Amino acid sequence: MNRFDQKINRRNTNSLKWDMMETIYQIEDASTILPMWVADMDFAAPEVVIKAIRERLENPVLGYAVADDSTTATFVNWVAKRHNWTIEKDWVLYHSGVVPAIGSIIETYTKPKDKILITPPVYPPFTNVPIALKREMEECLMIEKDGHYSLDFEAFEKSAAKDNVKLFILCNPHNPGGIVWSENDLREMLRICAKYDVLILSDEIHADLILDGHKHIPLAKIAGEEAARVITCMAPTKTFNLAGVQVAMMIVSDDAMRNKLAQNAFSHGQMGPNIFAIDAMKAVYTEGEEWLTDLLDYISGNMDLVLEQIPVAVPGIKIAKPQGTYLLWIDYRETGLEEEEVMERLLHTGKLALDPGSKYGDSGRGFLRMNVACSRATLQDGIKRFIKSFK
Ligand SMILES: Cc1ncc(COP(=O)(O)O)c(C=O)c1O
Repeated sequence: MNRFDQKINRRNTNSLKWDMMETIYQIEDASTILPMWVADMDFAAPEVVIKAIRERLENPVLGYAVADDSTTATFVNWVAKRHNWTIEKDWVLYHSGVVPAIGSIIETYTKPKDKILITPPVYPPFTNVPIALKREMEECLMIEKDGHYSLDFEAFEKSAAKDNVKLFILCNPHNPGGIVWSENDLREMLRICAKYDVLILSDEIHADLILDGHKHIPLAKIAGEEAARVITCMAPTKTFNLAGVQVAMMIVSDDAMRNKLAQNAFSHGQMGPNIFAIDAMKAVYTEGEEWLTDLLDYISGNMDLVLEQIPVAVPGIKIAKPQGTYLLWIDYRETGLEEEEVMERLLHTGKLALDPGSKYGDSGRGFLRMNVACSRATLQDGIKRFIKSFK
């Protein structure tokens, strides 16, 4: 049996995905609803993580923990091997997650009323966090054609040129569009942001979830002289399903920029990874590669199954296979249904929880995001529920 075929009961495990649906979807009883929404996989963490944490618990003292150089070295080596990007251990700052890191980066390099540039439809915290920090948003909408998204660089330049635009948050690879950005696109973003003095936060949490031979390019790797103005966020949590362990890395090559960010972390008492994250990280970055290879194969297979079945069974549904992530972005605009109706049908007829596209910005209306990182049996169940909702 493939290790990812194992079905694990996650109800009543304090799981955001499985145990919070009543609140998230404002429904009374979610006990029969299948969650395929938040980006969290239903797979067991790699065996090497469970072993490392078990071994750590052999010592029952759980005091303050520090990620030493040997922990950071495992990450530096991973990035060199997987992405051919040479970084130094000193460039790495830790945080408890990429979303909290986004908050720290915004606080450090911008001030209230400054504008943050984003390219919707995009991961909701790219909007929610800046707004909570009293920053303003500048949106350059992506263009969708036959299920593939791209940037209109003329429009992007107009946005970047506006007064007070200080930081661009890039989703690289892009959630929910599934784009693994090309070198040409990345270079164009770098050129425009340099011209208008806009810093770039490159959220690369999905960097290791690349499908079917596509290649992730870390923005800072090709940034040349602009590298000092790129802050990269990476993490093992999305790749290896460790979101509950909570850890992320912020990579800043420029000393002065990095010191400023470290100062912000210090002002919030931000200490670095927790005691379990350290061992989990070391384990996956030294021994996790085989698990990841198998995972990517499995996910690609899951996506193919959805693509083979749903668009054939439901007229008006279009799905393009993403280049990365384990998230499908499903276009139902040709069914003529409104989002409210679709969500009602999914939750009450099909008993399936997906993300409504409007969560990713208004331009996401007419789309649903489906997380396919589950066992094939669960996926088949999800496909059935989806089809039932639209019949
Ligand atoms: C683009 C992106 N950034 C960040 C996160 C979450 O990061 P964290 O759990 O480390 O806060 C996600 C989760 O789906 C994501 O898609």
